[in-house]
Amino acid sequence: MLELYEVKKSFTEPDGGDLPILDIEEFHLDAGEQMALVGRSGCGKSTLLYVVAGISRPDSGKVMVGEWDITLFTEPECDRFRAEQIGYVFQTFNLLPGFSALENVLLGMCFAGGRIDRARARDLLERVGLGHRMTHKPTQLSVGEQQRVAVARALANRPKLLLADEPTANIDSGHQQQVVDMLRERCREENVALIVVTHTPEVARQFDRIDNLEEINRAVVVK
Ligand SMILES: Nc1ncnc2c1ncn2[C@@H]1O[C@H](COP(=O)(O)OP(=O)(O)O)[C@@H](O)[C@H]1O
Ligand SMILES: [Mg+2]
Repeated sequence: MLELYEVKKSFTEPDGGDLPILDIEEFHLDAGEQMALVGRSGCGKSTLLYVVAGISRPDSGKVMVGEWDITLFTEPECDRFRAEQIGYVFQTFNLLPGFSALENVLLGMCFAGGRIDRARARDLLERVGLGHRMTHKPTQLSVGEQQRVAVARALANRPKLLLADEPTANIDSGHQQQVVDMLRERCREENVALIVVTHTPEVARQFDRIDNLEEINRAVVVK
């Protein structure tokens, strides 16, 4: 369901030079497949997720999500496609500060143009252990709790592909397993393809497939 071909992405160095970050010949992920993406800090993991989500455009190459090459979409088409098809757990959460935990999850459904399903939103929050914090706003939640709201929100719109950037980095080990289980179970039940970027060996180890980006990326980023 996800296929990358000859994807290249560079940034401009502060001195104006070209800084190649991604150079990936091929990358495939089947519908419903689950994998961990690992690699040292700075090797391009977040950049790759941004490219896959259409948040950032590659310089060249194809990014096929289902039957669509998202690099051919205009920016509004990309935004629309992402809202409908892709769930994203940002490293920095990106929760809306003026809204409660429950409202943040409901907004995830709203943006996708889907039905507002309160029962599903509540269920997702309960499954990450936040049944008692639904009406709290992000500033009234701990960092780990905010991250768990972000995980629940990413699943709100029933995506086909879920991209999670270090979704357990700020969560204590007790809740870490609960969040990983919830992500994996929900994705299995709903046939959602899942990429989890993680630095935590105990998290990575639970996946049958573990890709190290440094092995598939021909751009040598980390020295
Ligand atoms: N907008 C940018 N301009 C220049 N360099 C960037 C930009 N964004 C990221 N980088 C560089 O790209 C590299 C990969 O970043 P990133 O994908 O965030 O790594 P990871 O998520 O694997 O830690 C880093 O070395 C970072 O400094
Ligand atoms: Mg990152």
